[in-house]
Amino acid sequence: MTIEKKLLNIQLIAKAKEPLYRQIADGIARAIEQSDIEIGEKLPTHRALADQLQVTVGTVTRAYAEAERRHLIEARIGAGTYVCDNNKNHHWIYQLEELQTEECNFGYNIPPRFDRSEMISNAMAKISANPSQLNDMMLYQPPQGIDNHRHIVCQWLNQKGIDVSSEQMYFTSGAQHAAELLLSIFCRAGDTVLVEQFCYPGFLTLARQHGITLKSVEMDEDGVIPASLVSACELYQPRLIYLTPTLQNPTSVTMPLSRREEVISVCREHNVLIAEDDVNGLLPPSPPPPLINLAPEHVIHIGGLSKCLAPGLRLGYIQVPKQWQQHLSTALYNHSLMISPLLSAIACELIVHGDADRVLTTVRTEIQQRQLLVQQYLGEFDITTQTYSFHVWLQLPEDWRLSDFIAATTARGVIVKSAELFTPRGNHIQPAVRLAISSPLNQQQLIFGLKTIAELLRHPPLSHFSL
Ligand SMILES: Cc1ncc(COP(=O)(O)O)c(C=O)c1O
Repeated sequence: MTIEKKLLNIQLIAKAKEPLYRQIADGIARAIEQSDIEIGEKLPTHRALADQLQVTVGTVTRAYAEAERRHLIEARIGAGTYVCDNNKNHHWIYQLEELQTEECNFGYNIPPRFDRSEMISNAMAKISANPSQLNDMMLYQPPQGIDNHRHIVCQWLNQKGIDVSSEQMYFTSGAQHAAELLLSIFCRAGDTVLVEQFCYPGFLTLARQHGITLKSVEMDEDGVIPASLVSACELYQPRLIYLTPTLQNPTSVTMPLSRREEVISVCREHNVLIAEDDVNGLLPPSPPPPLINLAPEHVIHIGGLSKCLAPGLRLGYIQVPKQWQQHLSTALYNHSLMISPLLSAIACELIVHGDADRVLTTVRTEIQQRQLLVQQYLGEFDITTQTYSFHVWLQLPEDWRLSDFIAATTARGVIVKSAELFTPRGNHIQPAVRLAISSPLNQQQLIFGLKTIAELLRHPPLSHFSL
């Protein structure tokens, strides 16, 4: 065997069993490990590397794709290919350091905090008053959860216009667990999944852990653009698309009915399954119909009670098309055997006695009031949001650099989330931040945060000259 070429630590061995593209990808991995190339460093262009290694451009393209799949490098549109920072742990929703110094925390995607203790203790007291049922709940249950509990939750969701069925819907430990099941059932490492241009960070980390390549589809004010979706389907032949059609996190975009129909039609045509994350779907009183109502045979529906009731309850659900149901049972069984029936019992008590609806009304009223404050203090700036949305997506004016703006808000005790968190790898990071307006403890804190942000937007730093 002869060593033909060397670039940094990349050595190509002629006539080796390992194809050239994999040898190059391995070489990139070694070079990163030995710090021959640094995190954030730009890699040579495909043509330059091909010339140096005397291979075809196609081989390098394949090698870079392989290295990208292994999350070693990332291609940034129009900017080249860079070494990834895999230690960056910025996807966690809650960052510990934020808990200490804040005056106003816009970081948490949670319902407004008000006292739920009485209703939870009443629900638990009712459950405790039935010893035989309590003993039954201490046994193993089928993966999908207790029939009666599923029936109660489904009926409640049906009344709210969501066509799930108690035969097909399975309880999960939150919508996040449902998304994990989704990837376990439908995807394998190396598959490509489409996502919206900005995406819920919990899904980005999940996909990464599963070794799934995400490709994003451009959005406008009505959600993913059908023409871009067609191109992405043709180019990537994805396994599925993950969408949040109602009050998208982070942009608050809600797809109107006509866009939902167009998207379904493109996905049907290209045989791409749709995963609908409807975690915010209960917040607006009359949203457009969820995708599962429009194409039950083509849609995996995910939801939960975190946003409309309480995230700590960890009650979520998933419904897959009938032919996949056995796979769902197996996946849920393998993950956790079942979710604790005590949690679904509490949720059912809250639903049956009207507490769940009362909480939802309180959440909606509080959010409407907070949205009015947003309009009052930030109305003049480039914001996108909706009446019942927990989020405001703020595009920064040209004079602000994203990192400077976040540093400036943090220095004033105001925590915001960078667009970077919501941007699939390889995409351009827009100068924007997400404000979760449901997150500050009360309206006083919210006003402080909004005023601080308005003040900063009005007084950007002096221009950044580089000589
Ligand atoms: C779009 C989206 N999906 C899923 C989740 C996870 O929700 P859960 O608490 O039900 O796991 C979140 C949480 O913020 C979210 O924003």
